[in-house]
Amino acid sequence: MGVDLSQLDEWEADLLRRYPQSTSVIGDGATAGFRDYDQAKDSVKEFYQCNHRFQTHDFVQGRKTEFASKNRRRMGIWEAMEFLNELVDESDPDTDLSQIEHLMQTSEAIRQDGNPDWFILAGLIHDLGKILCLYGEPQWAVVGDTFPVGCAFSKRIVYPEYFVENTDSDHPLYSTPLGVYEEGCGFSQVNLSWGHDEYLFQVVRDYLPDEALYMIRYHSFYPWHREGAYHYLMDDKDRAMLEWVQAFNPYDLYSKADQPPDVEGLKPYYMELIHRYFPDELDW
Ligand SMILES: [Fe+2]
Ligand SMILES: [Fe+2]
Repeated sequence: MGVDLSQLDEWEADLLRRYPQSTSVIGDGATAGFRDYDQAKDSVKEFYQCNHRFQTHDFVQGRKTEFASKNRRRMGIWEAMEFLNELVDESDPDTDLSQIEHLMQTSEAIRQDGNPDWFILAGLIHDLGKILCLYGEPQWAVVGDTFPVGCAFSKRIVYPEYFVENTDSDHPLYSTPLGVYEEGCGFSQVNLSWGHDEYLFQVVRDYLPDEALYMIRYHSFYPWHREGAYHYLMDDKDRAMLEWVQAFNPYDLYSKADQPPDVEGLKPYYMELIHRYFPDELDW
């Protein structure tokens, strides 16, 4: 493929360093606080330096407009999974799961706990937005924790010091706590930094229940669902949905099993599940 995925993989590895399995999901911010990041690799820091510098309000608006057309491909969910699977980390092919394996480990862990079918389906598809990488988007605009733009950056975002490089930090409106938003306006009115969560949400928004859509749209919004920031922007729906986003997170982070899932063996079950909710093809 020739796509260097080191940053994509290391973001995930860094999440596990920041949120080891023993830490509980916090959410209310009462005991939140950044842990020791000394072990974070330089490449992770460089990744966030780019991410925090370039994810401005203008940039996000531009990406949203660019991808709102959904005229890049027409394909079904399984086809998108196979397309995403073209992403392989060439630097470490033996120890890492393929993209499909990560998706299926997540969905299988959700299934084993007896959760509803749309929850399982959210697990199966939650990272399909990473096909942005295959369109040539830089990794700092595909993965990484997400955060609101157009209002002040929270200190609870990972590496908040890197926001000095973001021109919005000096903007007279965007640097204020509310910025372009109203208190309690709800995250549906808020632009988050651009990445795979928002892209997939835009593709699947007509087909899944709200709980599943929240899991997809906000699973990388760690400042909210793990650090308890930005509660002043929430509306009642966000408050109700937070527990679902938090319920999803451990399956994303901690479902790594010793054995990779039997993708071909599980395919019939998942094809049926996909067709329960989705048409044969979607616009991407
Ligand atoms: Fe993700
Ligand atoms: Fe994931």
